[in-house]
Amino acid sequence: DGFDLLVINGLVVTASDTANYDIAIKDGKIALLAPPGVLGKESAKRVIDAEGGYVMPGGVDTHVHLEEPALFGGKGRSSDTFETGTRSSVCGGTTTIVAFAPQAKTIPSLLAVLEDTHARAKDNCYTDYSFHMLVGHPGEQALSEFPRLRELGISSLKIYMTYEALQLRDDQILDILLASRREGITTMIHAENGDVLNWMTRKLEERGLYAPKYHATSRPQIVETEATNRAIALAELMDAPILVVHVSSPSAAAHLRTAQTRGLPVYAETCPQYLFLTRADLDRPDFEGAKCVCSPPPRESAADHDAIWLGLANGTFTVLSSDHCPFMYEDREQGKKSILSDAFPEGRFSGIPNGCPGIETRLALTLSANRLPLQKFVEVTSTNAARLYGLYPTKGTILPGVSDADLTIWYPPGRLGSFKLTNSMLHHNVDYTPFEGVELNQWPRWTILRGQVVWDRDGGGLVGKKGYGQFVRRGKSTLPGPRKSGDWDVSVF
Ligand code: URP
Ligand code: ZN
Ligand code: ZN
Ligand code: ZN
Repeated sequence: DGFDLLVINGLVVTASDTANYDIAIKDGKIALLAPPGVLGKESAKRVIDAEGGYVMPGGVDTHVHLEEPALFGGKGRSSDTFETGTRSSVCGGTTTIVAFAPQAKTIPSLLAVLEDTHARAKDNCYTDYSFHMLVGHPGEQALSEFPRLRELGISSLKIYMTYEALQLRDDQILDILLASRREGITTMIHAENGDVLNWMTRKLEERGLYAPKYHATSRPQIVETEATNRAIALAELMDAPILVVHVSSPSAAAHLRTAQTRGLPVYAETCPQYLFLTRADLDRPDFEGAKCVCSPPPRESAADHDAIWLGLANGTFTVLSSDHCPFMYEDREQGKKSILSDAFPEGRFSGIPNGCPGIETRLALTLSANRLPLQKFVEVTSTNAARLYGLYPTKGTILPGVSDADLTIWYPPGRLGSFKLTNSMLHHNVDYTPFEGVELNQWPRWTILRGQVVWDRDGGGLVGKKGYGQFVRRGKSTLPGPRKSGDWDVSVF
């Protein structure tokens, strides 16, 4: 008897279709889509008139660091909590996030880490959420817990080929890939050669080169490309699906594409940092370059950006995530990016925590750039993320009777004119955005999570409630997995 909400007059864009539909929502689900005007306004308790704006599945951001300890160089702890990070998320049109449950090298049990992370997130989130296990210590206990992780709705993990606190050896990576393949878990890999970049860092410091721009010098493209190739080789050996996270290098992207052409289940992710920042941003005056220190680093030129945009358009990149990794620039308590001292008047790049905030700006930056077909935009920012991490089709699309009513509704094209992004617009707990001053022409007008309006830019802004966001149990990836099934018996190992 009646719908809860109608969204009318929108141009509905999914990864597969673009058409004018009105959308009816009931009990938090997409109930049906109908041609414009068929559903009477009186059939619902509330009507939102999208006025010709785009109506898309809510954004799904599957690379988010919240409340993590100092693991990424420097001393910073992520400044966003589950509360502030997911608040920022809905204000930027993202309705589901997958954050990390970080296992330090000193902790044997992944299940203990998962439980801790649940406790931090519970009743605090504005978005729906899940976790990837961040595996720092793949010992016997951790590996034996994989089946239980799957029962608990966790179907992905991340490992590192760099960072003192996290770097795994190749044999440890094989352990992970083997156990992951058995359980239908997707392995995300941070592909940079930690030994090489540490060596480069020592050499630079011996020569007194400490400024933020040398962060990029210490880890040139080949550092990323070598590790990417090695990750592909190990995954091929184990016939296990991987996703190489935050790819910034065109040459790494080319190797990923070759692996995909060979039919390997090798997926790739990139992030707005690698579409909008360059090495020159690391050399901003007055140590402001520290704000753009992330790993891999922003690359050299517009040509590098073009190659990454092309990789998004041609399918090399499965997902465009934020890698939201928030650190205060100036903050004495939480650790900070500004580490100027008398001993190091130019700062010291090796002490700057790695990572940039971007959970709220990911969608608006990318849509405003207008360099992807709309359906491709939805695919890489929502649909594919849901498919790869076992959230589809509850999340990532608008399938009547099946999908959650998670929608991001944009302004009609041209309505907002052009405006500059400033940190004062944002809702994260970070004192800067690396994208300060970038020209935008879009921002989400409304964000809807399971039928509830949580962001209403012209009617109160943030209107969602902390704690409305729910943990989502995930299944297996619905993108192609191991090439050989059954017969290729991993038990020989
Ligand atoms: O610099 C980065 N990417 N920081 C976040 C941590 C990670 O490696 O994803
Ligand atoms: Zn141990
Ligand atoms: Zn990483
Ligand atoms: Zn990250």
